[in-house]
Amino acid sequence: MKYEINGNTEGLRDSVLARLNSLYAFETEGDAFLPRELMKLLAEISCEINREIAVYMTRDGDIVSIAVGTDSDVELTDYRLRRNTRRLSCVRCVHTHPDGDGRLSDVDLSALKIFRYDAMTAVGVKNGEPTFVQTAFLTEGEELLISEPLRWYRLPDQIWLEQILLSDAQIGREAAEELEDGRERAVLMGIESRESLEELKRLAETAGATVAGSFLQKRNKPDGALMIGKGRAEELALECQALEADVCIFDEELTGVQMRNLEEILRIKVVDRTTLILDIFAKRASSAEGKLQVELAQLQYRSARLIGQGLVLSRLAGGIGTRGPGESKLEMNRRRIRERIAELNRRLEELEKQRAVRRKSRERNETPVAALVGYTNAGKSSLLNALTGADVYVQDQLFATLDAVSRRMETPEKTEYLLTDTVGFIRKLPHTLVQAFRSTLEEAVLADVLIIVSDGSSPDMVQQHDTVEQVLEELGATEQKRIEAINKCDLAPEPAAMFPGAVLVSAKTGEGLEELKRKIADALQASYAPVTFLIPFSRYGLLGEIRPLGRVIRENHTEEGTELTLMIAAEETERLIRKYGAGIVKTANP
Ligand code: GTP
Repeated sequence: MKYEINGNTEGLRDSVLARLNSLYAFETEGDAFLPRELMKLLAEISCEINREIAVYMTRDGDIVSIAVGTDSDVELTDYRLRRNTRRLSCVRCVHTHPDGDGRLSDVDLSALKIFRYDAMTAVGVKNGEPTFVQTAFLTEGEELLISEPLRWYRLPDQIWLEQILLSDAQIGREAAEELEDGRERAVLMGIESRESLEELKRLAETAGATVAGSFLQKRNKPDGALMIGKGRAEELALECQALEADVCIFDEELTGVQMRNLEEILRIKVVDRTTLILDIFAKRASSAEGKLQVELAQLQYRSARLIGQGLVLSRLAGGIGTRGPGESKLEMNRRRIRERIAELNRRLEELEKQRAVRRKSRERNETPVAALVGYTNAGKSSLLNALTGADVYVQDQLFATLDAVSRRMETPEKTEYLLTDTVGFIRKLPHTLVQAFRSTLEEAVLADVLIIVSDGSSPDMVQQHDTVEQVLEELGATEQKRIEAINKCDLAPEPAAMFPGAVLVSAKTGEGLEELKRKIADALQASYAPVTFLIPFSRYGLLGEIRPLGRVIRENHTEEGTELTLMIAAEETERLIRKYGAGIVKTANP
């Protein structure tokens, strides 16, 4: 016969194991916290083998696990019946102390906190009989409520059972509030570099988590099954437990199988870098289109990982990895996901068409655009504010800006232009997101001038700059004029690296802003110049064609015809000359 007794069973006779095993069939009445009969049996066996015995009971009184230990110690285990790691586990632990001392030890009390048992009870046993019993409960604010040691036959069963329900309600409320503020405790695990892990920390904080610890294990070849080695994963499980983490965030993309395997070992929710970034985007997206795009990216990412989401998908409590415009749809099956993805694609295509129409009209007749692009947190929004006096959302968080914000500006020569803030770039930007956020980044693709903002105070400035270049290339934004701006020069007056022709600026002190404005004006001037056309009366219809191509500065009616002066892109002028001959241009310098 196979006995289901855990812990240190070495050297125990079959007859003892059989007696222990029979305890699983023990029926507890609903109103008993700890049946006396069970206590007597435990005392008898515990004294006989001179070892501690622990039993784990559900709220229905069923025994779900039995373990034996040494004479002074039994390995206490995690038997959560709940996925939400802040809530009580719905299991109480009753264990014997064979030295007769029924008081709870410090280890017992910390196990109560870590494993979040409904209650932790010590039963002192001597000469085969129970002696004193002490029970502790977790209550609000992680406080412990500890009973006096009581004689074993005088336990207040009803009060103790009620206390479990009371604690559960208090802790449940706290857990809900905690999750509402998004304050999950996170442990981070990286395999690449300190810098990447540091960025992950900021991402986790931006997602609203408290980072309880972070670990780096450099690996050239990630483990297929677990990303990190099995031994390291087991160590990590202990670290997560000691740090009371609710979630472990990996700095790499995990496959569904890796997620499931890791969740099995760590016993907490496992989230990867991409999920975390998607989560932040989900919280921040505010335009209708942005929301559709985040939902699409989330669904695409998740559908490839459905098998790995055992824990995550079944958790009702929320938190990182479960937020999103399609939150209520997290439990969708594959077929529903496929349908929803198709529907989102259709809606996005429609919006894309509308946007293409709008863009066309802007390309033709609206003001030129200068776009601030750069790594997240480089200070783009701050610069937009400093340059224009606009009140844009500036925060020391990643991705504070999700939807593009534009402000109207004017060069000293009175050329109007739009200055646009864009979403921040990031290393290992999930590919689905580059796709999804084309609309915001499209401002960059379509801009006449790109101002690449770097954070001069960051030790990773050059690497971040490379990422920006790479993403711009991916988006096809390679043609425009570029201005390099190194921001935060109040923190780093002499940045470690410089880019050719870069301006040192500080959004904070205002240093270099005039120079930056001048550079923007020059760059715009180079592509948008004032041109005066002379349109003879005989070709009057041309006026209607040329006017919408730029911003009209002057229109004079002379004897020869109409003189129309407007700010116009050089290529438009060239096209008009090719079409109608050089005669239509009177002067390029009014
Ligand atoms: P995303 O929206 O994430 O792309 O960030 P962003 O590039 O728009 O950065 P944001 O303007 O939000 O600034 C990020 C942080 O840097 C904020 O805490 C700013 O106060 C700070 N910051 C911006 N410019 C400067 C500067 O010139 N000097 C100093 N000391 N801090 C700055």
